[in-house]
Amino acid sequence: MTTLAPALSPAPASSAVHVGRGNGQAHALLTPLIQRIFADDREYRHYAHSPVAADPAALQDFIFAADEGGAVDPDAIFHRLRWGGQFVFASRHGRRVAQLAEEFDRDGFRLEREPAFIRKAWPFLSFLAPRTHYFAARKVHLIRPGEFTERFTYHVELVPHQAAEDEEFVVLKRVPSLESLVAKLHKKFPETPIEAIEKRARKFTDKIFPTFLTREAAILKILQEHLPSRYAHRVPRVIALEKDIRGFVTCLKMNWLRNGGRRLSQIEFAMQAADLLQAVHDSAGVLHLDLRLDNMVITDQGVGFIDFGSSMRVTENLATNPMLDALFSELMRTSHIQRMLYHMTTSGQVTAQHLCDKQGKADKGIDVFYLSLQFTTPHANPDLAGLIHYDPQSEMARQISELSKTVLRPGDPTDTSHKSAKDILRSLELIERDINRRARR
Ligand SMILES: Nc1ncnc2c1ncn2[C@@H]1O[C@H](COP(=O)(O)OP(=O)(O)OP(=O)(O)O)[C@@H](O)[C@H]1O
Ligand SMILES: [Mg+2]
Repeated sequence: MTTLAPALSPAPASSAVHVGRGNGQAHALLTPLIQRIFADDREYRHYAHSPVAADPAALQDFIFAADEGGAVDPDAIFHRLRWGGQFVFASRHGRRVAQLAEEFDRDGFRLEREPAFIRKAWPFLSFLAPRTHYFAARKVHLIRPGEFTERFTYHVELVPHQAAEDEEFVVLKRVPSLESLVAKLHKKFPETPIEAIEKRARKFTDKIFPTFLTREAAILKILQEHLPSRYAHRVPRVIALEKDIRGFVTCLKMNWLRNGGRRLSQIEFAMQAADLLQAVHDSAGVLHLDLRLDNMVITDQGVGFIDFGSSMRVTENLATNPMLDALFSELMRTSHIQRMLYHMTTSGQVTAQHLCDKQGKADKGIDVFYLSLQFTTPHANPDLAGLIHYDPQSEMARQISELSKTVLRPGDPTDTSHKSAKDILRSLELIERDINRRARR
């Protein structure tokens, strides 16, 4: 198979074109296909031509491949595509396309274009012209069936949704099935008896996950009500809910904050994230509490936050609900971010008193702490690779890293000058001004 990725357009874009052996054959099949079928496609025009598409380290929104009789590995394609990206396959052989389309129509993909064909443009007897058969499949799952990851907990999938006039894709977030959770826990704790694993998994799928998903839906509604409109499209909006007979949300549909906006500089990324956090905290009165890079996106509207599954309202008093109180105290002991804060406090990497005090607590400080850490490693989420320009040797990276240290380990531990997202934003603005001044010199 030859892959021709990502963008071959009638007016060739600046994007890279990777062609292996049989390059001429691939061009002969794919060039007319792209010109006739994809050139006017809104999604193709938007995503296949961005500078990100030319970055071999970045996940791709479009991968085109032409048949040379060799094997096509859906697994390899899956891992090169961004979530929601499309794989387009072309061949002279209709049966080969039909077979492969069937293979791709499961296991994490969904057929976007059923097998079809175009004919070569011939001046005469065009109905006898050779056919190019093709299909397109979209990556709709986050992981391959049977694959395990610590990155995600819920079953999250892209599904089509009938909007006002046309169909669009939305995100469906569902409580994982008991079987899948048992399999995951069994893999993680092979020594634990299966009965104990089942009991624990049942507690999660029956009670804990539905509780958190119900809360997430409620928090998303609060955000939409209280965030100023310029921020509202940078967090998900609830589109539909399914509830069980107890009233717990078991399935949540929300709009898709699609990665693939303009490539941001490291300072832009940091400033947009701090600005959004300040609005989430101060305008909506919401704590995120799980602000890992996996829960951030870079869309056409800029940096967005997703996964408000562990969030709380600033004014929420959990003491009135013993079950929730217990769940949150467990979460605040065991979450990745809390463990990180514990580790960094005990090792002396975090000394700021206002942060050390927040260990084990649900507080704005937890978001501020993690945000300040993320600035320095913006490349750690593979979905964002290519969307943030990060040069660890640059003056910008140096100054941002300095700021991060000042927030976490100020000269005077009682210094409270970087207590809020707003304080951090102010310092980032100063860095931006300095970088711009240096650039003008
Ligand atoms: N509305 C959305 N727009 C874009 N991407 C989304 C959206 N919701 C979820 N995702 C993608 O799906 C992934 C998993 O979703 P989410 O973070 O909500 O659940 P989770 O990671 O399983 O939950 P937890 O972080 O509690 O383990 C996200 O990291 C992101 O890549
Ligand atoms: Mg998540």
